[in-house]
Order: sequence, then C-alpha cells, then structure tokens
Amino acid sequence: MRSLKLLLFLTPIFLLAFSSSAQEYDFFYFVQQWPRSFCNTNQGCCYPTYGKPPSDFGIHGLWPNYNNSSYPTYCDPNNTFDINEVQGLVFSLRAKWPSLKCPRSDSSRFWQLQWMKHGTCSVLSQSDYFSAALQLKAVTNILQCLQLAGIWPDDRRYTTLTSVVSAIQNCVGHTIYVQCNRDIRGRHQLYQVYICVNQTGTGLIDCPVFPTRTCPSSFRFPKF
Ligand SMILES: *[C@@H]1O[C@H](CO)[C@@H](O)[C@H](O)[C@H]1NC(C)=O
Ligand SMILES: *[C@@H]1O[C@H](CO)[C@@H](O)[C@H](O)[C@H]1NC(C)=O
Ligand SMILES: *[C@@H]1O[C@H](CO)[C@@H](O)[C@H](O)[C@H]1NC(C)=O
Ligand SMILES: *[C@@H]1O[C@H](CO)[C@@H](O)[C@H](O)[C@H]1NC(C)=O
Repeated sequence: MRSLKLLLFLTPIFLLAFSSSAQEYDFFYFVQQWPRSFCNTNQGCCYPTYGKPPSDFGIHGLWPNYNNSSYPTYCDPNNTFDINEVQGLVFSLRAKWPSLKCPRSDSSRFWQLQWMKHGTCSVLSQSDYFSAALQLKAVTNILQCLQLAGIWPDDRRYTTLTSVVSAIQNCVGHTIYVQCNRDIRGRHQLYQVYICVNQTGTGLIDCPVFPTRTCPSSFRFPKF
C-alpha cells in the first residue's frame, strides 16, 4: 500500500522527466519492410481487413535513434494515439503502412504502437510524424531503385548484398542498411531496408551507425 502511494506520487515527475528528454535523439531510422518476407516465416501473417497490400515495400516505422546505437522508447504515455489527428492520412496510411500481423485488422493498432513506442520520442506532432513517414516513403521508392538496377522480386534467382546495397545507395544518395530474415525453409531473404533521416524527419542523411544483424552475401528477394 505504501509503495503504491509512493508510485502514484512519483508518476507525474517521472513522466515530466521522460517528456523533457524526448527530443534528445540524434537521427531517425526510416524502416521499410518487404511484405512477402514478413509473411513467409514461421510466424506467418494476416492481410488487413481492407485487402491485400500493394506489391511494394511497406512502412514499418520512423524510429528515433542515438549515435551510440541505443534508442529511446515510450517517451510520453499521455500522448496517446488519436486516429482523428491523422484522419486526412488514413487512405494513404492503409496502402503505405499496412499491418501484416495476425489477427487481421484495419492497421490502426500498428500505427498506434508505432506512435506510442517511437513517435512519442520525436519532436513531431502526431500528424507531422505520420505525414513525414508518408513523405519519406514517396521520396525513397526502394522497389523502383532495385528495378532500375535490374533487381526484381524473383522466386528462383538469388541476388547479392553488394548489388542491392549499391542499387539503393546510388538511388537515395546516402548510405543505407539492409536486413535479412529467413523464410519457413530457412533460406535468407531481403526483409527490411533502413534509411537514415535527420531529427526533423525531413532530410535524408548517411547513417551514423548501423544495426548489427545483416545479410549473407547472397539471398532471395521473393515475389509478393
Ligand atoms: C546513448 O546516448 C544517449 C543519449 O546521449 C544516452 O542517454 C544513453 O544512455 C546512451 N546509451 C549507451 C548504451 O551508451
Ligand atoms: C498524464 O495523465 C495523467 C492522468 O490523466 C495526469 O494526471 C498527468 O498529469 C499527466 N501527465 C503529464 C505529464 O501530462
Ligand atoms: C533536415 O533536412 C532538411 C532538408 O534537407 C533541412 O531543411 C533541415 O534543416 C534539416 N534539419 C536538421 C535538424 O538537420
Ligand atoms: C551523431 O552523428 C552525426 C553523423 O555522424 C553527427 O553529425 C552528429 O553531430 C552526432 N551527434 C552527436 C550528438 O554526437
């Protein structure tokens, strides 16, 4: 009982401390995922209630990160996700930021999680955060970058890490990071692409640091 009282007493101070530190990140990772590689794994996937997503990379998130590789999360529990704040963006979000998690949903829980876990640590308002992500998606057309370099989703051929990385880097003009996972048969495949963005979410930058897990020298890029 006493500790509960203490907890209640401390909570507002705690939250204040968190929200005041919310802006001290160094850059964003803008992460896009290849839907087929999310789906053909042990965990499987479910398409949204409004239909199968486009055959394109989808947004996973826009994540504040520190130069030292660590990152802040859940910076302001009071700044709850409000779908009304992004009402004008829902049509685009459904297509560009679809949830593939089961059970199938209208994707709003995915946006909510991304906002609470990552968005609240940024300097952006909800509408600015989701607009920034959509804008970044529009200026970084990864699928087109790959296709311009002759790399297409293909269920039989393997592609190489060097060709994928250089195709995307030549196209976006900055260093990027490619992440693989394994399909249900254990084969490595292209899963996510990380592009780095400055603190305001508006300018692409070279990545100050890369996550650790990377791809083998060749892997699949399966059709979706
Ligand atoms: C990384 O940097 C941030 C911000 O400067 C700091 O709060 C955090 O403790 C650092 N983390 C590590 C693992 O050094
Ligand atoms: C968070 O919400 C609680 C409950 O509504 C409120 O008492 C508290 O003052 C809020 N804290 C901040 C930092 O806004
Ligand atoms: C981010 O990039 C944009 C576009 O290049 C630029 O206008 C803005 O000043 C940059 N912001 C920061 C904080 O670097
Ligand atoms: C983080 O790294 C970027 C690029 O390497 C650098 O411009 C920036 O000053 C660094 N920020 C801090 C707080 O060290």
